[in-house]
Amino acid sequence: MGNGLDSLLEGIPTSNCQGASPLLRVAGGVHMGAFGRFMVTITKCMPRFMVAAVARRYVAGKDISNAVAVMKRLSAEGACFTVDVLGEEISTLDEAQFFIDEYDRVLDAIVEHKLDANLSIKPTAFGLLIDEKIAYQNMERLLKNAANHGIFVRLDMEDHRVTQSTIDIVLAMHEKGLTNVGTVLQSRLLRTSEDIKSICAKLGGSADFRICKGVYLESEDIALTGYQQIVDALNSHITQMLDAGAYVGIASHDLPVIEHTLSELNDRGMMSSDTDPRENAGPSRTGKGPGYEFQMLLGVRGNVRRKLAKQGHRTRIYIPYGNQWYEYSMRRLDENPDVAMHIVKSIFMPWTNRR
Ligand code: FDA
Repeated sequence: MGNGLDSLLEGIPTSNCQGASPLLRVAGGVHMGAFGRFMVTITKCMPRFMVAAVARRYVAGKDISNAVAVMKRLSAEGACFTVDVLGEEISTLDEAQFFIDEYDRVLDAIVEHKLDANLSIKPTAFGLLIDEKIAYQNMERLLKNAANHGIFVRLDMEDHRVTQSTIDIVLAMHEKGLTNVGTVLQSRLLRTSEDIKSICAKLGGSADFRICKGVYLESEDIALTGYQQIVDALNSHITQMLDAGAYVGIASHDLPVIEHTLSELNDRGMMSSDTDPRENAGPSRTGKGPGYEFQMLLGVRGNVRRKLAKQGHRTRIYIPYGNQWYEYSMRRLDENPDVAMHIVKSIFMPWTNRR
């Protein structure tokens, strides 16, 4: 496996707004938030069928059979998957039952169709903000069921209200011997470097992270807000995790981040090996790469993902599906209007972001 950076970046602008039209260049820079908010307002006025036409690219469909069909198709591109049932914070514990049942169906489908896939769950959908004890029971049950099939479960990271409690679930489950679980950390949060240290101190090489920028725009007293600051933080967190021997899922479509990761992997001899060569590496994991994998969202920068897969890197696609696709899309846009900007860019500058 070569470094292959030049061919990876070929034809794709390496900064967020390079190569954009003047309007999009402004939108990609300091004024991106305002433009994004404008696009969110427009989107909310659109009829549902028009939003559906755009969402089709990012959401696998309404039910598990749609998600299975998408995964079967994308398996041919050398990808593996993590499946997300759309929906999150619930208002009654009864609603949690829907997610418990649906994730059981996902597990059954993964096994039945022999898919190379694991699960992504949102702890608030299991009741974390209503009754922590019951939420733990709900998640423990799912983890046990998944473990019986050798399937890993990723706890997605939601907003700052649940950062600590989400990390605590992972630590508690590992203590109970359920090691098929890991969390996501968000590089925009100022606390993340300390979180990596404390999780790795407790779990050693068994620590298994997804690291991303963080989609929730948090306030300045707890988070970074500038693009370059966040990229620098993400790059340093990736290095910190690799140094600690942890498993690292790099969840970014941003080329400077992918470029940094490739160079770090190369320095450690991790790109040319089927096994993890780090002395402090954790155990080899079913359905995982040699210490790392690249993760991307369905419909986003498929061209980059395919190039990485071709170079021999394990690439995982996040597959959201469910009835609540409209509410989910609107919430994501509200939380981070920059997402609207990315979508506009992918429509008008398709060469920057192939499906
Ligand atoms: P950046 O936002 O700079 O995007 C780089 C380029 O990628 C853009 O210029 C655009 O071309 C394209 N792009 C990125 N996002 C796009 C989108 N939504 N639509 C269209 N094009 C897009 N966050 C979180 O808080 N908790 C979590 O659990 C997760 N989980 C997660 C899983 C996976 C697999 C991924 C890839 C991401 C997440 N995220 C997340 C989201 C993450 O925090 C971040 O908001 C997005 O990945 C966008 O950041 P990038 O690093 O891709 O850079």
